[in-house]
Amino acid sequence: MKSIVILISGRGSNMEAILDAGLRLNIKAVISNRPDATGLAMASRRGIATRVFDHSAYASREAFDAALAVGIDSVAPDYIVLAGFMRVLTEGFVARYPMRILNIHPSLLPAFGGMHTHRHALATGVKIHGATVHFVTSHLDHGPIIIQAAVPVLPHDDEAALAHRVLVVEHQIYPQALRWLAEGRITFKENNVVEIRDLNVSSDIGDQQLRMPME
Ligand code: GRF
Repeated sequence: MKSIVILISGRGSNMEAILDAGLRLNIKAVISNRPDATGLAMASRRGIATRVFDHSAYASREAFDAALAVGIDSVAPDYIVLAGFMRVLTEGFVARYPMRILNIHPSLLPAFGGMHTHRHALATGVKIHGATVHFVTSHLDHGPIIIQAAVPVLPHDDEAALAHRVLVVEHQIYPQALRWLAEGRITFKENNVVEIRDLNVSSDIGDQQLRMPME
């Protein structure tokens, strides 16, 4: 069975969706860069080992990433799953785990990389927004895309309403991406384009990528 560590910074709702999905993955630890991350208690309640590397205690990004890497390597996971982890990782850290770090980003990449994605989507006037699970490379928010889900942008949306609609699909696509990972079905074509082996459109993505939740 493949193993993961999950990195969080706060609420941990994506982490919870992953834990609830009953995946065939050995979850070795949940690590936070913030001691007050509420997701830590949730992980502990489920019997998962937790650790904190408080980024404010380190003099530089490099020093923080070096300590984080030692912590991760001590449990030797196959993959590192960023789930609302709000720190940009250094090139050195990313290079240490090539195509072994996954992230969820609340936009349809390559649109709206970086912060405040919902605000930018509203300001730009796009009518479709969404979320992306991708591998992390040194090019921020540009790594190979594993799965995306779209939601409509509705006329009276504010940032909170749009964020909520996107979060619903985040909780669907991250477990699905990790299910494919657990099943060893993620393959790479030329230019690191991801292809899911034996993809069955209705059972693998029908519910996640094609549904447009309209609360
Ligand atoms: C999510 O919207 C995620 O895409 C973004 O930060 C948020 C984290 O939420 N990077 P949670 O901690 O998983 O609840």
